[in-house]
Amino acid sequence: MRRYSRITGTGSYLPPRRLTNDDLAADLASRGIETSDAWITERTGIRARHFAAPEVASSDLALEASRAALEAAGVAPQQIDLIIVATSTPDMVFPSTACILQDKLGANGCPAFDVQAVCSGFVYALAVADAMIQAGTASRALVVGSEVFSRILDFDDRTTCVLFGDGAGAVVLQASDTPGILATDLHADGRHVGILCVPGNVSGGRVLGDPLLKMDGQAVFKLAVGVLEKAARATLEKAGRTDADIDLLIPHQANLRIMQSTARKLKLPAEKLFVTVDQHGNTSAASIPLALDAAVRGGRARPGDTLLLEGVGGGFTWGAVLLDL
Ligand code: ACO
Repeated sequence: MRRYSRITGTGSYLPPRRLTNDDLAADLASRGIETSDAWITERTGIRARHFAAPEVASSDLALEASRAALEAAGVAPQQIDLIIVATSTPDMVFPSTACILQDKLGANGCPAFDVQAVCSGFVYALAVADAMIQAGTASRALVVGSEVFSRILDFDDRTTCVLFGDGAGAVVLQASDTPGILATDLHADGRHVGILCVPGNVSGGRVLGDPLLKMDGQAVFKLAVGVLEKAARATLEKAGRTDADIDLLIPHQANLRIMQSTARKLKLPAEKLFVTVDQHGNTSAASIPLALDAAVRGGRARPGDTLLLEGVGGGFTWGAVLLDL
């Protein structure tokens, strides 16, 4: 009998400090940087984001989200046999945030590692966990996206610092006789490293280069809308499904205009596009599991629904996961 993987619980966590566009605009004004709620809302759909306190790390946000997902799944931390954390803002250079999370959860012993695919990280991590479950090397995986992107923002660059936020989301993915995950599709094109990157590095005990986020927004926009449609169609074809089978599209929450464009290309009505970017901003690898948890807990995604998760981000990376909830 074929072995599948299925999501059995979701969880998420946002740090308590919430900044509306007006709050952020006031903070930036004190640095001599001009922006406005009208500009941010019109270009991106973002109205608010959460920022973690300075002493809070990605593993702390991941811990809260993981506890909620484990509780929803009715699984104890000690029953988890695989932990994958998608993050581009790890607690340390090493060890992985997944190992730090494992210890905080008290789930010690199982394999634990990070996946670095920036905003596609959660889709990458979910696809890897699915493959490991199908192969029989894991049965109960914890898959997490967690970010403190506020740490790598350049608050003197208004074209990027208004876009991002902090947060975490998690799912428990378990072996099952029935799908579950129907198809996955992952890609990268390293020719585009420079359009979205944090080019700095640690060397000889010093930071070399610029450790803050750089983005060519228009280049990212153009690439994103093209590849998201392709990845969506690839998963549908692999699973023998069509656009009409999608009950809810949960894309990476970067920008409302990119998400709406993808939904239009897939001929999905507005109500089948799930949006949290207005309240969370772009939380990179955390955005999809944060949105998924909001959809599940808000009754927008119900057992049996077919969901399309899609990520796109630095690398350039992109991918999709089609699943039955
Ligand atoms: N407030 C006010 N004005 C601003 C701001 C701001 N925060 N940022 C830029 N502007 C100004 C610019 O200076 C420019 O002014 P000018 O015309 O006088 O020169 C004007 O607004 C237009 O700037 P553009 O950069 O051309 O604005 P654009 O319409 O391209 O929108 C944006 C910028 C929102 C970043 C857009 O390119 C975009 O959405 N790109 C995709 C980015 C994205 O989603 N990245 C994340 C995906 S991958 C990942 O998640 C990591």
